[in-house]
Amino acid sequence: MSLPSGQRVVVSELGDEPLDAIEHHAALVAMPAPDPATLGERDVLIAVASAAVGWVDLLMTSGQYQHPPKPPYTPGLEYAGTVVWKGAAAAGVALGDRVLVDGLLAGPRSLGDYQAYGGFASYGVAPVEAVHRVPEGLDFDQACSLLGSYETAYHCLVTRGRVRAGEVVLIHGASGATGLAAVHLAKRLGATVIATGRSAEKLAVVQREGADHVVPTGDGRWRDAVKALTGGRGVDVVYDGVGGEVSLESLRCVRFGARYLIVGWAATPFVAKGKGQRGAPNANQLPTNLIMMRGLDVLGCPTVISTVNDPSLRPPRLAYVLGWAAEGTLRPHVSHRFALADFKDAMLAKWRGEVTGGCVLRP
Ligand SMILES: NC(=O)c1ccc[n+]([C@@H]2O[C@H](COP(=O)([O-])OP(=O)(O)OC[C@H]3O[C@@H](n4cnc5c(N)ncnc54)[C@H](OP(=O)(O)O)[C@@H]3O)[C@@H](O)[C@H]2O)c1
Repeated sequence: MSLPSGQRVVVSELGDEPLDAIEHHAALVAMPAPDPATLGERDVLIAVASAAVGWVDLLMTSGQYQHPPKPPYTPGLEYAGTVVWKGAAAAGVALGDRVLVDGLLAGPRSLGDYQAYGGFASYGVAPVEAVHRVPEGLDFDQACSLLGSYETAYHCLVTRGRVRAGEVVLIHGASGATGLAAVHLAKRLGATVIATGRSAEKLAVVQREGADHVVPTGDGRWRDAVKALTGGRGVDVVYDGVGGEVSLESLRCVRFGARYLIVGWAATPFVAKGKGQRGAPNANQLPTNLIMMRGLDVLGCPTVISTVNDPSLRPPRLAYVLGWAAEGTLRPHVSHRFALADFKDAMLAKWRGEVTGGCVLRP
């Protein structure tokens, strides 16, 4: 078997921050097709069709994500494509299968041998247990945008948030990859969704994707709008992937005893120092007086770290996400698509917040 050679993105050193890394330390280089003779009998070789450009991919380039890859490395936590070779013991997949790769078991977010194969490349290699058939009805762009975002939404809303039908969930950063997944999932759970964001255009998409109400955060004081939508009571659950001022305002429109889910801090990404240095000198802070007087449950929701601590969380979560995608209720929305050669434009579009839902590269 002879496969054509391809290309891959390489980050040669970590930047001070993602913009520095994208501009100065990331480049497209030639990639010979991996030689099957060098691969293991449980390995699967995939011709990458589509790779998600995620927020975590950006933060990794400066080591400002909790799991820093060692440069040089190829970004791309999640990808999907076609099986072009498989080892003799790789059961359950066949040549030509359309598959997506589990970013916890292969690629730069994984630990071990498969960390070298990121999705910003023509080819990826993954162990067979990391490979899933693309659920019926999803294209490659949607398939590579599925697990990370929807598993996060599931961990936050279901495992941590215990969201029930009829509850009101306030979702910040709802136009983002995980935010829009949370909108889809909260609706699947039977909740009423109030979504916030800075852009009227993106909020219109979020509403089309299922949010019951949208509230612009433009003037900084939006608590009254949320209170009005809940008859003055406040929301039952907050899904906060934004942080900063948005978190502070949220604490003024929650009901007594609400669950407050800390998902991320897109508005204040430089919590850690750049170039992979440890520490959190710019950490977000929440006022303990409001948390106490409102009897809030504040819940940290790190999906991967929780799963490492308790691996039993994963199988049911994966089954629900893949099952609901196959049944057609969870359909990732992808607003931006780029050729691999335009990876810098793709990363910049994501960084500048131009994307709604998913952003993908198509090697
Ligand atoms: N808990 C977990 O396990 C987990 C897993 C994955 C990601 N995360 C974290 O969750 C957060 C969101 O991730 P994501 O993948 O959904 O990111 P994303 O796709 O970039 O979306 C973030 C959203 O936040 C909103 N936002 C508000 N203020 C912002 C600001 N000043 N700068 C940039 N965006 C701002 C934007 O919406 P508007 O433009 O509409 O305002 C944007 O769409 C990140 O902090 C990420 O690290 C957590």
